[in-house]
This record gives sequence, C-alpha cells and structure tokens, in this order.
Amino acid sequence: MAFDKELFDDICREFTVDGEALHTIAADFRYDLKQGLKDPDLSSLRMLKSYVGLPTGEEKGEYLALDFGGTNVRVLRIRLDGHGKFEVLKKVAKPLRVEGIYDYVGEGSTAEQMFDFIAELVDEAIDGDHTKKYLLGHTFSFPSEQTNLYDAKLIIWTKEFATAGVEGKVVNDLLKEALHRQGIDNVEPTAVINDTVAVLLAAAYKQPDTYIGSIYATGHNTCYLEPFADKAERPMILNLESGGFMKLVPNRFDVAFDEHSEKPGEQRLEKMVSGRYMGELFGMALAELLGEKGKAYGFTSIDMSNIVLDESPDKAEVQKIVAGKTGHKLDTADCELVRDLVSKIIVRSARLVTASYVGILWQLDGQIKSKQQHIAIDGSVYEKMPLAKENIMRALSELLGEDAAHVDTVLENGGSGLGAAIAAAMSQQQ
Ligand code: BGC
Repeated sequence: MAFDKELFDDICREFTVDGEALHTIAADFRYDLKQGLKDPDLSSLRMLKSYVGLPTGEEKGEYLALDFGGTNVRVLRIRLDGHGKFEVLKKVAKPLRVEGIYDYVGEGSTAEQMFDFIAELVDEAIDGDHTKKYLLGHTFSFPSEQTNLYDAKLIIWTKEFATAGVEGKVVNDLLKEALHRQGIDNVEPTAVINDTVAVLLAAAYKQPDTYIGSIYATGHNTCYLEPFADKAERPMILNLESGGFMKLVPNRFDVAFDEHSEKPGEQRLEKMVSGRYMGELFGMALAELLGEKGKAYGFTSIDMSNIVLDESPDKAEVQKIVAGKTGHKLDTADCELVRDLVSKIIVRSARLVTASYVGILWQLDGQIKSKQQHIAIDGSVYEKMPLAKENIMRALSELLGEDAAHVDTVLENGGSGLGAAIAAAMSQQQ
C-alpha cells in the first residue's frame, strides 16, 4: 500500500508551527505570565509558589532525597560538600507499576499503598537504620499548592496518574504517616519541591546565572526565579506548571487524544510536547494513513527516537518498528514518510517548548541583555530524542535574534535528586 500523499501533507501541516505562530505563542506565554503574576486566575499558568530561592552553593551535610514523579520512584542518600560539590552515597529505585504484578499509579490503588511502597524504599536507602536522624527533601512532580516549604497539597494528578486519595492532600503528611507505620521515625521530611524547582536548584548550586529550570521528559514543565514574587522580600522560584498553558491551537489529533485522556481539557501544552504523549499522537496520525483511523498502536517516544535514527537507505529499522506495532509492512518510500512525520512531531514539540522559554526570557528581559544565562533542563526528551536540542537552539535564534548568543541550555542530569537534597539543606536556613 502507498500512503495518500495529500492526506500525508495535510497531517504534516497540522504538526507545523511556522515562524509567525512561534512568535505569537511566545508572546502569549509572556502575557499569561504577566497576568499570572497579578492573579493566577487570569492566566492558564498556575504560577505556584515554591517558598524557596536559589542556593548559595555552600549548602553542606548528608540528606535523603526522594524523587517521585515519573515511572520510577528513587530515593538517594546524598552528601553535599559545598562549592557546588556533592556525592551520591546510595541510590535505590523502583518502578511504580510493573505490568501484571503491581500498579501504584492506576485508579485501583490507594494513597496508603503507594506511600507504603515509597516508605519501604526509604528504608532500603537508609539500610534499615532507624536511629540516625535524616532530613528528607521530596521532589514531587505534580501541580501542588504550597503555603510553605513543607506543605504541598496535590491539586490534580497529571501524566495519567490516577491513584485514589492523594488529590487535595498534603503529600508530605501522607509520606510521614507511611514512614511512621514502618517505624521510620528518624527520617523527617522537611521540604517538598517540584522537579523543575529541583533542576533549577541543582543547576544553580553548581553554576551561577541560572534562573530557569525545566523538565522535558514524560511530562513537561518550567519554573523560574521571580525577583518580585508576591512582593516577597526575597526572590522566589515560581513553578509555572507551564504544561497547562492553554493558548495553543490543538490539531485534530491533540483534540481526539485529549478526549480520551485521564484529565480531558487539562495540560494542553504538555499533551502536545511531552514524551508521554508524542508516541500516541504519532500512532493516531499513522492510523489515518493506514486507513485504520481510531486505532491505538502503543508507540512510545523511544520508538520515535529509533525511527528518526534510521538513516539507512532501505529504512529497515523503521519498517520493523512499524510492522511490530501495526502489523503493516511498509515499502521504503512510505517508511521515509513515516520518518518525516515523526520528525515533524518532534520539531513541533521542541518549538512549542522553546516558545515558552522565550516567553519567560522576555519577561526577564534586562537579564538576557546584560549577561550570559543558562536554562537548565533535565529529561529524556531533551537528552536523548534526536532533533529536540537542535530545534530548541534554532527556535531560540529565530525568536531572540542576536540575543540568542547570551542564552544556552544545559543538561542537568539527575537534578531531581540533587535538588531535593539541596532543598532539605535550605529548609534549615529559613
Ligand atoms: C507536572 C509538573 C511536572 C512535569 C514534569 C507535569 O505533568 O504537572 O508538576 O513538573 O510534569 O515532571
């Protein structure tokens, strides 16, 4: 079978963000940011206060870091040595869901079960020692409303999480109770932060002039240091929950996917850009080309990476991946088109993400012009997805012109763990 070329071109158009649209999105993002600073109800950005500023780089001591927010939950024991230096002394990690064995993220699971599972992992990280005192920093990567560094109430699950009994609760209370049930009273959770905040803390611990932290992975979100947050005396990091940015025009695949998602109508930007969703969007578009509209094949962002990486003339890898998921054996010409389609979806993602970064940079305008600054990013899409990084750079130049020379992006690998430890240390400075 050969793809209908007209339909193919039409689908590619749907996934294209041209230069004009890119500018409009960046400007709209900045507008929402400004409105949100006045009153979050006026904006599609939640603008959540973190109650933490930037570290000095001199934070020291041994802390526990809990990183909870993706497919794996991790607990680390980290020693901060100051001068931006640190050492991971122990690291334990487990998936929150193992097909057919257990599932702590589906709606059939409860808060108690989930936090008991996490408490067991904490116990492993401290080698069952229930005497030595530890402060624990908790990176909790979901929209949460804070009133101080300790209290974070989950507003709404994202990334298709659905565990019952967590929304509306103070997550560190749930954690504390679970630790207590297992006799782990020597571990005291003292700080909870979003993963974007963790990335920013981790990057700023090592390198000055970093004011923006972002996650570009299963989910997507960005935070930045707001000099005038809530007229606070000290600058504070705001978690924008930029994945919820709404001023975008979703195409028919975005709309159809959203309707069947766990939270229809939520997280428009995230559903258009993040690793959790890109494979699904690609699968929906491919289904139309294969005359099987509505079929879901279960493509992942890893499949998309592998498709783009196949530069061979016969596109054998593309053919294999598509056949494995759809049962259709495509000829080389169609495999080329599949690769083009995947590229379009990744490029759209990178351009939308960049537009949000530039919206923030424009808001911090004075800083860009005066000195070099870094956007710290962690996440598998940024780190591993072909085309992502180069298209971020391209879109930065397109939007910032000469000023793009003052901005770079840096990979802050594993920032969620280090950032949590730094937050635990900073909880003692307040
Ligand atoms: C969450 C954010 C988080 C991002 C990256 C989103 O789904 O709402 O809080 O920062 O994922 O993990």
